[in-house]
Amino acid sequence: MSNLWQEDCRGLEMKVIEIKNLVKIYASPFMRKKSIGLNGLNMEVEEGEIFGLLGPNGAGKTTALKIITHLLKPSGGSVTLFGGVGSLEARKRMGFLPENPTFYRHLTGMELLQFYSRLYGKNPTRKELEEKLKVVGLKDSQDRRISGYSKGMLQRIGLIQTLIGDPDLLVLDEPLSGLDPVGRREMKDLIRKVNMEGKTVLFSSHILSDVEAICNRVGIIVDGKMKKVGHIGEILKSEIRYIDIEFEGMEEIDWLNEYGDLKKEGKVIYLRTKDTEKKDKVLKEISRRGGRIISVVPQRQSLEEHFIRTLNE
Ligand SMILES: Nc1ncnc2c1ncn2[C@@H]1O[C@H](COP(=O)(O)OP(=O)(O)O)[C@@H](O)[C@H]1O
Ligand SMILES: [Mg+2]
Repeated sequence: MSNLWQEDCRGLEMKVIEIKNLVKIYASPFMRKKSIGLNGLNMEVEEGEIFGLLGPNGAGKTTALKIITHLLKPSGGSVTLFGGVGSLEARKRMGFLPENPTFYRHLTGMELLQFYSRLYGKNPTRKELEEKLKVVGLKDSQDRRISGYSKGMLQRIGLIQTLIGDPDLLVLDEPLSGLDPVGRREMKDLIRKVNMEGKTVLFSSHILSDVEAICNRVGIIVDGKMKKVGHIGEILKSEIRYIDIEFEGMEEIDWLNEYGDLKKEGKVIYLRTKDTEKKDKVLKEISRRGGRIISVVPQRQSLEEHFIRTLNE
């Protein structure tokens, strides 16, 4: 699906998750102190997208995912899944990978998948399961015990386990945390792959580059509230900091000084302008005076800069 098509159809897409004013207060019977997990969270996840729930530790990501998957009861607000509130049917359409999943350690990878398949009332052949293990690069380790699996292998078999019931929605809590660069890459590729196969993915992370690399949309959650939601491109587009224009073939360039910083290297001239409004005028004038434009590159704020600013707003 091209981006253009996606943009055109925005608004027509079905909401897989709709959360309104969700509140979670953790109260301990032994301690007077209450702690706030969510403080009026609003968010929506649309069909077919990869939505990244981004926030610092303690922001409420796990709390939100656990309420969505019915592992926790909210103190207030509502969660609508596939258009229905908490129906068993809707819950069956969901797969969940918790943070740091643990499995029966004495089972082999193959036995684990057989076990979970039976829980779903399925009885796949060994060959079918082998295929699944192959997809996540675990075919060679299928007869090894889970206790000997690395963190990356656990995450990958965890992902396959969430897919056994063939869900339409995958909810993944920090699926990339604690993985080495190779493990992260493999997990990211897998998440993209299952999304391409038509599954909606909601995942949480406190790591920006991971979210930036695979998500269509991002929601930044801070102190139990959604601070900002948008397509990554949109969030960052609105934050162009300056534009770098590179051109050649012009001798007289002093007139450009009023538009930004100029630098000349041999025949090539660089102009860095903050005046994004006047960009078209400048480009036209350069061409009119015989200059040849080599490149025009908008320099955006990185998601990291944006994130830090959002935290401080
Ligand atoms: N079981 C719990 N009892 C009391 N407070 C909790 C519990 N779980 C989470 N919290 C609190 O709720 C807030 C959000 O936590 P959490 O959802 O785990 O955040 P995140 O996953 O974004 O790191 C934190 O302040 C945390 O201390
Ligand atoms: Mg968490």
